[in-house]
Amino acid sequence: MVDVAAERERTAGSVGRHYFNAAGAGLMSDSVVETMVDHLRLEQRLGGYEAANHRADDLATVYSAAATLLGAAAHEIACFDSATTALRAIFDALRLGEGDTVIAPRSSYVSQALRLLTLKRYSGVHLEVIPTDATGAMDLQALDYALATASGRVVISAVHIPTSSGLVEPIAEISALGRRFGAITVLDATQSVGHLDIDVRALDIDALVSTGRKYLRGPRGTGLAYVRTGMLDGLGGWAPDVRGSVWTSAEEWTMEAGARQLETWESSVAARLGLGVALNEAISRGQTVTESYLVNFGVRLREGLAAIDGVEVTDPPASLSGLVTFTVNDIAGKQVSALLREARIDSIAVPASHAQWDLGARGIPSIVRVSPHVYNNEDDAVALLDRVTDIAQSGGAR
Ligand SMILES: Cc1ncc(COP(=O)(O)O)c(C=O)c1O
Repeated sequence: MVDVAAERERTAGSVGRHYFNAAGAGLMSDSVVETMVDHLRLEQRLGGYEAANHRADDLATVYSAAATLLGAAAHEIACFDSATTALRAIFDALRLGEGDTVIAPRSSYVSQALRLLTLKRYSGVHLEVIPTDATGAMDLQALDYALATASGRVVISAVHIPTSSGLVEPIAEISALGRRFGAITVLDATQSVGHLDIDVRALDIDALVSTGRKYLRGPRGTGLAYVRTGMLDGLGGWAPDVRGSVWTSAEEWTMEAGARQLETWESSVAARLGLGVALNEAISRGQTVTESYLVNFGVRLREGLAAIDGVEVTDPPASLSGLVTFTVNDIAGKQVSALLREARIDSIAVPASHAQWDLGARGIPSIVRVSPHVYNNEDDAVALLDRVTDIAQSGGAR
């Protein structure tokens, strides 16, 4: 069971408002913030390099903690400043070109979709966007067909939970199909790490990326990747950096065997240490405990919202997550979100331009997204549902 009172006690931001934006940036615990502030003070006194040396052991535990959380080995973890940078580093390293194929779901995030469209337009990569089935998830029969007919090297750019709905894609089934056809599966787990119980071996994926600031409740400017041992073998580094490479002679260099070869030297050490604390807090709470609390919270909110006249829950049937999306009459998502903020309720509006293959394809211009975490309680749920009822009844008038 989640000890919600204890989570609120150690999360200053949960007091005095109803914060429902973990899918944007989850509230950091007090110890995550204190760790970062302490490190900045150490840098102030000792200088950046000396301060980092002092915390070398704690920096190493960021990798082991991420590995423990995801069921990976520490050398399979790399740290970045965002999920997008991590995804770009992995796709760059794959060096896809003319005749290769990327298969993507309708749930793809804007930045990755644009990256794939760029590969298609400028590098001759064949891009296959798979339709959804009746549950809203990737249609596995269509995926099977796309894999069977794909040319060149084939990469599945999978998504666990999108930005635009509470959908949970069937990742184990997707990667198993990919495996059957020799495809590589790279998973965008930005909305699911720290939210759902994830084990990279059970999912049998080749790589995974996530951000630190959402359900992991780490600081902004952090991201991480899991890259399966051996996946990068023989690819040659795309952008060797002093962090993971050694320049051995005038025209030669060697690269680290592990995922760290994708990293760059510079980073915010304070933020990385904060991420380490957040990872350890997620591990001690337990992934299954967190998942069941958040998924049940999602069910509670969807039921409450669906009962309000004028509200439409826009999550597809396969939405077994704590991320909830809806519309109110035909009021723009941004306006609903602003009206909620007046009542100290934090949500966010997601426009179709963040998810053209999903919201755009469904003809929905924008949705309101609410995303609870373990610091949210029943009072928060009631405040949200009451305010949405007011907005629906007043037609969005102030
Ligand atoms: C599904 C998904 N993938 C990727 C990202 C990008 O994460 P980042 O901002 O850390 O690059 C987001 C951000 O909202 C997202 O929702």
